[in-house]
Amino acid sequence: MTSTLTNGQLLEAARRFGTPLYVYHAERITYQFQQLQTAFANQPVRFFYAAKALTNLHILDHIRRIGADIDCSSINEVKLTIQAGFKPDQILYTSNSVAFEEIEEAKSLGVHINIDSLSNLEKFARAFGNTYPVGIRIRPDIMAGGNLQISTGHDRSKFGIALAELPKVYHLIQAQQLSVRVLHIHTGSEIKEVEVFLKGLDLLFDLTLNFPQLEVIDLGGGFKVPYQPGETGTDVNALAKGIEKKLSEYKASSGKALSIWFEPGKYFVADAGSLLCKVNVIKQSGTIEFVGVDSGLNQLIRPMFYGSYHTIDNLSNPEGEQRTYTVVGNVCETDTFAEDRSLPQVHEGDVLAIRTAGAYGFEMASSYNARFLPAEVLFRGDEMQLIRRRQTMEDLLLTQLPLNKQSSD
Ligand code: LLP
Repeated sequence: MTSTLTNGQLLEAARRFGTPLYVYHAERITYQFQQLQTAFANQPVRFFYAAKALTNLHILDHIRRIGADIDCSSINEVKLTIQAGFKPDQILYTSNSVAFEEIEEAKSLGVHINIDSLSNLEKFARAFGNTYPVGIRIRPDIMAGGNLQISTGHDRSKFGIALAELPKVYHLIQAQQLSVRVLHIHTGSEIKEVEVFLKGLDLLFDLTLNFPQLEVIDLGGGFKVPYQPGETGTDVNALAKGIEKKLSEYKASSGKALSIWFEPGKYFVADAGSLLCKVNVIKQSGTIEFVGVDSGLNQLIRPMFYGSYHTIDNLSNPEGEQRTYTVVGNVCETDTFAEDRSLPQVHEGDVLAIRTAGAYGFEMASSYNARFLPAEVLFRGDEMQLIRRRQTMEDLLLTQLPLNKQSSD
């Protein structure tokens, strides 16, 4: 199943729930997971969906029901996934620069833990010794990913324990009997080249002798999905073949069977989601024709923050004559969704769909300019369900303490 929701379904959702609106497609998420399962069939591989891409409880629940596990980057994400019904053995908590108390709390919840600093690892060893197995995140000094901001494994990255620091980890293992069960890397997001993952695997294989209790190699997430027309994503079948070969070679030479974990976020949910927005104004400005929509960088920041390309479709006039537009938001910032983009003729009131917005779309939204966070809708088959209502003025005021009228008036 590669098709996604029809224009009619999306327009009906916009009519019922208003815009801006995030719309997701459950079957598309299932399809993506099945691609992974089929590619890696019969291999000792587990997929932990990186919840940070999209944490709506109904999405988490769907992901649990289709049989995937879950990766979290904060203790609050851990709590959300427990709320969605995941059991501790299905939950992985990959922390970075967190207070040790968060790690203690994760331990008390019984989830898998990856630690990414020597400082927290020392605290962990002191507090728990060998009573709780742990994973460590290593910085592999590999440059990869769609752009520098989403590259996390290079030699100036904040993530992971530097290779040069590893002797101190070996010392902890000996002195405190620390039980390191997982070696983890995550080199970046939108990594198309299969070789990057295999290179990371080789690098970790070379370290395994120092980790006598090792059972798992966790290669993180980062599978690329196509954003632009004509682009291709990571070839997960080629990746599966490469991993299978390397695992069996490793087993033959070391006599040890290791399993592999992955933590894909975008691969699960990116193309299952669209942001629907309505055209408020059309403005001619010299040679530029601006299309101003009722959304902005407060609701999808990827184009402005990373320069990311998102396909835009005019749902209201799909067969219209192609014209060139610059699509901008309504926030008091330069929030350009697309520059000089060819779209079927746009009129005020048209509904546009900004595509591939399921991952890091709603999740990175804010209420900047005191705008409401958008509503979210999930399609299962033909059924659409509101899974998050739009914010209201009461929500915006909820955490603000009332003015003390007497003292100021
Ligand atoms: N595992 C770890 C430890 C991660 O840090 C990440 C993403 C993932 C897994 C999932 O990566 P994915 O499969 O989604 O590429 N906001 C950016 C992406 C930042 C990703 C941060 N870490 C964007 O919108 O492009």
